[in-house]
Amino acid sequence: CGIVGYTGHRPALDVVLDGLRRLEYRGYDSAGVAVLDGDGGLAVERKAGRLANLEARLDEVGRDTLTGGTGMGHTRWATHGAPIDRNSHPHRDTSGRIAVVHNGIIENFAQLRAELEADGVELASDTDSETAAHLIARIYDGDLAAAVRTVCRRLEGAFTLVVTHADEPDKVVAARRSSPLVVGVGEGETFLASDVAAFIEHTRNAVELGQDQVVVITKDGYDVTDFHGEPVQAKPFQVNWDLSAAEKGGHDYFMLKEIEEQPEALANTLRGHFTDGRIVLDEQRLADQDLRDVDKVFVVACGTAYHSGLVAKYAIEHWTRLPVECELASEFRYRDPVLDRDTLVVAISQSGETADTLEAVRHAREQKARVLAICNTNGAQIPRESDAVLYTHAGPEIGVAATKTFLAQIAANYLVGLALAQARGTKYPDEVAREFRELEAMPAAVQHALGTVDQVRALGRELSDSKAVLFLGRHVGFPVALEGALKLKELAYMHAEGFAAGELKHGPIALIEDQLPVVVVMPSPKGRAVLHSKLLSNISEIQARGARTIVIAEEGDDTVKPFADHLIEVPAVPTLLQPLVSSVPLQVLAAEIARSRGYDVDKPRNLAKSVTVE
Ligand code: G6P
Repeated sequence: CGIVGYTGHRPALDVVLDGLRRLEYRGYDSAGVAVLDGDGGLAVERKAGRLANLEARLDEVGRDTLTGGTGMGHTRWATHGAPIDRNSHPHRDTSGRIAVVHNGIIENFAQLRAELEADGVELASDTDSETAAHLIARIYDGDLAAAVRTVCRRLEGAFTLVVTHADEPDKVVAARRSSPLVVGVGEGETFLASDVAAFIEHTRNAVELGQDQVVVITKDGYDVTDFHGEPVQAKPFQVNWDLSAAEKGGHDYFMLKEIEEQPEALANTLRGHFTDGRIVLDEQRLADQDLRDVDKVFVVACGTAYHSGLVAKYAIEHWTRLPVECELASEFRYRDPVLDRDTLVVAISQSGETADTLEAVRHAREQKARVLAICNTNGAQIPRESDAVLYTHAGPEIGVAATKTFLAQIAANYLVGLALAQARGTKYPDEVAREFRELEAMPAAVQHALGTVDQVRALGRELSDSKAVLFLGRHVGFPVALEGALKLKELAYMHAEGFAAGELKHGPIALIEDQLPVVVVMPSPKGRAVLHSKLLSNISEIQARGARTIVIAEEGDDTVKPFADHLIEVPAVPTLLQPLVSSVPLQVLAAEIARSRGYDVDKPRNLAKSVTVE
């Protein structure tokens, strides 16, 4: 979500709306504003859909109903609660004097909600965010910052909260934990935002907030404390990007920004799915018995989502001992697959609206199969028509080529595999817990893999004149190779093919010629030694035929060095989790080759982010 707060000498509504426009890339399924008039009035307007819908609503009610120098706004990417008007932010307490906007997920919200309801509070929305407004109201005694600090100490999960109170119209209070928030310091005005892009046209003086901190802004400045009220020294910095770079977080293109957001996307996707020693899904309209009765799994998806499903097949079969077939949704739908009520169909779709995948879901349900959706868009059609849902919390993805949603899908698929293993008892609870902990270590491992970005970008520039690139992998490295090739095709319009390395000798080796770049995704030498040695032989075969080898290998794997013309090292992680780290350099490679060739990385020709025709 995108968040803006303001207090100062300008009309707050104008500043907040301008800021939201710059942040709309962070979410656009609803938007809202709150403005304090300074005389004890607090006006709120909010609307589902894009920011334009909110602006139309403001024209309808008259913008002069929201005058004042203090305000805040929100552009939403739904997590809890469908994207409808009453779930849009800001949320208010019962008195209507406190307004809150929130980004993130409050994990213990069910408990907090129950507590509020037991107290007789009626909640007006389905969101986790609204609970914060009521909790603050319950303890407010004239000091908003103190009340926010007290409530923050009770919240679990990730959040940025921005809060105003009609009785304290000259200030905005904000808090952050694991979600972004920056302060902008102007002359007689102060800003709050998820991202500097929201205020860069007014000031380049910014202040970074740390973990678990609360900031109070007034027109004259800001004051930062921790959640216990102890003063904290915040870190000022100068923003020297221009406006368009600021929207991309200083990057040349959104895709690179999204590649760098992958650790956060993974952490957000995993958060809250392991509680009380059990894996939990988001919307479970299936009984545990239904999961126990499953005797076959189909994974259906398109494009990059399909590649995430191919990775999942290895894990789900390994963990559950159920046969898993992964199929392109467009093929599945029209070939009369064998389905019945004991078949689980896992439908993976970032957008949740891809027509091929949606039709596959409908077909599966007509045949009485159960459908579990993995989706990045709250309330989209595919999750609505499914029996159970697991949301990836990667946030909105602007680049047409999927990156962070791919990694988030892999993590979500693994959670589904573990949920099945747990229900069916093919893994003991302590084994499920161990697998989850390994997954939880992945955001840090991906962060580490991002250390290869500069090296890979330089390599991309070197390879930009190539006519074709081949990608090889085995086991979970095979779908990684397919995805690496797809990225290169879609972005750099270059001929690229991914192969299972074992198939090389059955045909593709005929393609190898002098200086042809071949990317090889190596498995760990420790995890699956036999796969590793087989791949080493494959690389030496292609090298002997003149290929230029680009090897993605585990750090410290010295055995590959003689075969690698370019070695890209990624951190050591368990075998099944390797796609999460080895995909990172392949994404960067494709994007950089495309950029070097002068193409629009974020909007490749002929492609669309979501395809709603079959
Ligand atoms: C389009 C996009 C791909 C995406 C595919 C599936 O073709 O260009 O990047 O992987 O659709 O989209 P979905 O929203 O269902 O994941």
